[in-house]
Amino acid sequence: MNTSPNGTVAWEIVERIAWVKYNRPDKRNCMSPTLNREMAQVLEDLEFREDVGVLVLTGEGAAFSAGMDLKEYFRETAQQGLGAIRKAQRQAYGWWERLRWYHKPTIAMVNGWCFGGAYGPLFGCDLAFAADEAQFGLSEINWGILPGGGASKVVSELLPFRKAMYHAMMGENLTGRQAAEWGLVNESVPLTLLKERVTEVAGVLLGKNPVALRATKDAIRRVREMTYDNAEDYLIRAQEAADSFDGEGRKEATRQFIDEKSFKPGLGAYDLGGRPS
Ligand code: ACO
Repeated sequence: MNTSPNGTVAWEIVERIAWVKYNRPDKRNCMSPTLNREMAQVLEDLEFREDVGVLVLTGEGAAFSAGMDLKEYFRETAQQGLGAIRKAQRQAYGWWERLRWYHKPTIAMVNGWCFGGAYGPLFGCDLAFAADEAQFGLSEINWGILPGGGASKVVSELLPFRKAMYHAMMGENLTGRQAAEWGLVNESVPLTLLKERVTEVAGVLLGKNPVALRATKDAIRRVREMTYDNAEDYLIRAQEAADSFDGEGRKEATRQFIDEKSFKPGLGAYDLGGRPS
């Protein structure tokens, strides 16, 4: 494992998957300003590397992330005044935004505790898989604040209204299984099988045309806030822009299906032919 200068983030690349870990297990991976700075740098360093096709965000030890660091992110910045508060917010929100529009497909692998501020990066990742044993909570209400830093928006986006309201107001945790039932994550599996399942999903993504994947994940996020007509128009333009990066991909796929009859798009991806992605 490689580590960031202060050790708050650890990462390694194995077979084109970048495994990025919150690395403050003793502090349940809560997000301090140092961690937020270092995570931003690690994400930046990995984003356009040729040997990275998928990025997985997870946590070292018993937590995915216990949210914002109540001491270093909240109390200590508050003691330094508004400028320090805004700076710390920009650092945190900045890397979550970067994740939302990351160049490579991203997967949150929620191995344990996931609270409050951690919903930002959870939503930032395109897909999310949890351990059955994980615990998800909007604990803000338990210590007297509202779910900020995007967390209210995340549950409003991902959960039906009544469930979002209950989750935010009650301060009760969901297990990984419940989080999957509610739609906060794609799936939940026993912790012992979590990495295997995520590796399997990442492997499928690695077999897809990377230009099409990037266009697809951006499209799904963008159209959420568009009217139908605007979405239709955006999607035409997004596909034409993608074609200008990789016009050959779909021609080759069409050839393999129609002429060569070597694959069926309804049953899997065409052969990328060792093309770097
Ligand atoms: N901020 C600061 N320190 C934290 C945080 C946090 N969010 N979470 C854990 N820690 C620290 C603890 O203070 C403790 O430090 P210490 O060893 O110096 O005493 C250490 O991490 C271990 O924490 P414990 O509470 O001892 O661990 P335990 O496994 O018993 O409990 C749990 C884990 C449930 C996650 C608990 O630590 C907790 O409730 N953390 C806070 C969760 C939370 O509400 N986060 C804020 C969400 S709101 C927001 O992000 C805006």
